Amino acid sequence: MSAYDNIPYPIYLSDEMYPDHLATKAWMHGIEAPPPNASRVLELGCGAGWSLMAFGYALPQSQFYGIDLCEPDIRRGQEWVERLGLTNVHLRASDVMEVGEADGQFDYVVAHGLFSWVPDFVRDGILAICRDRLAPNGIGYLSFNALPGGHIRLMLREMLLVHTRAQTSDQGRIEQAYRLLQLLTEPPMPESVYHTALQKAAERFARQPREQILFDEMSPENHHYYFHEFASLLAQYGLDYVDDAGFADPIAGLPPKVQALFARMPDRIAREQYIDFFHGRGFRSAVICRQGSRRGWKAAAPMAAGLHFAGPTKYGGPGGEPGEQTWRALGTGEISLPDATSQRVFARLAEVWPHCLAGEDLMALGGGGEEAERLAITLYSAVNAGIIRAYRHAPACIRTPGERPRASALARAQADQGFVSTLACDALTLSGTGKEVLRQLLPLVDGTRTRAQLAEAAGHSEAKIEEMLTQLVRMEVMEA
Ligand SMILES: C[S@@+](CC[C@H](N)C(=O)[O-])C[C@H]1O[C@@H](n2cnc3c(N)ncnc32)[C@H](O)[C@@H]1O
Repeated sequence: MSAYDNIPYPIYLSDEMYPDHLATKAWMHGIEAPPPNASRVLELGCGAGWSLMAFGYALPQSQFYGIDLCEPDIRRGQEWVERLGLTNVHLRASDVMEVGEADGQFDYVVAHGLFSWVPDFVRDGILAICRDRLAPNGIGYLSFNALPGGHIRLMLREMLLVHTRAQTSDQGRIEQAYRLLQLLTEPPMPESVYHTALQKAAERFARQPREQILFDEMSPENHHYYFHEFASLLAQYGLDYVDDAGFADPIAGLPPKVQALFARMPDRIAREQYIDFFHGRGFRSAVICRQGSRRGWKAAAPMAAGLHFAGPTKYGGPGGEPGEQTWRALGTGEISLPDATSQRVFARLAEVWPHCLAGEDLMALGGGGEEAERLAITLYSAVNAGIIRAYRHAPACIRTPGERPRASALARAQADQGFVSTLACDALTLSGTGKEVLRQLLPLVDGTRTRAQLAEAAGHSEAKIEEMLTQLVRMEVMEA
C-alpha cells in the first residue's frame, strides 16, 4: 500500500498535456499529429483523472483512458466521470506495467508527475509504452525532475527525509516536515548564496498543498535527470524530443553573447542541456514523438496558417518608435507591433475574443510574401510571450451568453472544489476576493434561468449578474 491509498493526491490539472496543445507543438515541428478532436489518448499515473475529465469534456469525439495504481483515486474519479456523464473517459486501477497490445494504439500518451517518481524498471516501462503504443505520428508528453536546477530541491528533500525518519505515520511526517520548513524560512537568515537558495526552496515547498510534500518531495522514488540523459533514454526507445511543452522563449533574459551562441548551436539536445545550465531548471515537461516523425521547424507563414489564434489582447499605448503600438494581454506580457497589418490583426483578435480566428484568415490580412511571414513571426512571438494562444482545434468558447446563460457542466460541477477548467482546458482557481461570488453563482448558470431569475436566485442585482456573466465569458467557461 502506498501513501496515495491513505491520503488523496491534491487535485491537479495539467493543461500542458491537453492533446490540442501537444498537436499545436507538433505542428510547429512539422508533425501532422492525429486530430485532437478525434483521437485515443492514454494517461499513465492519472490519479483521479482530473485532467482527462477536462479533456474529455472539451473533446467529446475523442476517447480518454487513464491508468493509476491507486484504487481509491480511480474510484473517486469514476464517480466524477459518472456524475458528469462523460462516456468518453475510462479510468482503470492498474499498474502501468500491465499496459500492452490488448490496449491498442494511442494518438497521445501522456504522464505528468510519474517518470521521476517510479523505480527504473517502471520508468523503462513508460518509455516502452510510448515506443510500442504510440500511433505513427502520435505525440507523447513526459514531465521529469531536471538537473542541475533540481539539486537545490534534492538537498531540501534529503534534509526532510533525515528530519522525519522517526515518524511512523504519513500525517506525522507531513507535520514534522513543516516544522523544519518553518525554521528554514524563519527571517532573518544570514546573507549567503547557501541561505538564499535554501530559503527560496523551502518557501516554495511550504507554499504547496501540505500533502504534496509527502508525494512529491519525500516519496521513496525521486529521480533527477540531466536533459542529455533524458534524451539518451528516449533514443534507446526509438523516441525523439520535440520541444518543451511550455510556451516561453528559452533563451530570453540571457546575455546577448550567450543568446548568440545558443542561436548558432547546431545540436538541439546540447542546446537544451546548456539552456538548463544557464537557467537552472529543476523541472521539465517534454513533448516527444517516435523517431522519424519530426520533420523540422516549420516556416512561420504555413505554421500560422494551420493554427487558430485567440487572446484577451488590449491596446497598451504607443510604442517607442514612430507608428509603433504596444499590445498586451489582460494579465501580463507585452509586445511591440511596428506595422499596420499586425496592429489590425491584434485589434481584430481583441474584438472577437474569446472566439478564435483562423490563422489562414489572419494571414490573408497580411497580403502575402514577406509581409505574411512577418505577421506569422509576430503571432508566434505573441504566443511565446503568453499574450495570445494558438490551437489546432478551436475551443468552443462564446462571446455573448444567450437569454438563459449556460456555463459548462464541468465548470458548474467543479466550482465546489475551488477550481474550474476552461473550455480550452486551462485550470483556474476560484478562491480569493471576487471569486467566491462567482463560485456560488456558477452552479445556477445552467441554462434554465434568465438573467432576472439568476439575480433572484443568487440575491444580486441584474447589473451585478451581467458583470459576473462577463467575467465567466472571460474565464472561457460559457457555452452556446
Ligand atoms: C505524483 S502523482 C501524479 C498524479 C497526476 N498525474 C497529476 O499530475 O496530478 C503520481 C501518480 O502515479 C501513480 N503511480 C505510481 N506508480 C504507478 C504505476 N506503476 N502504475 C500506475 N500508476 C502509478 C500514483 O498512484 C499517483 O497517482
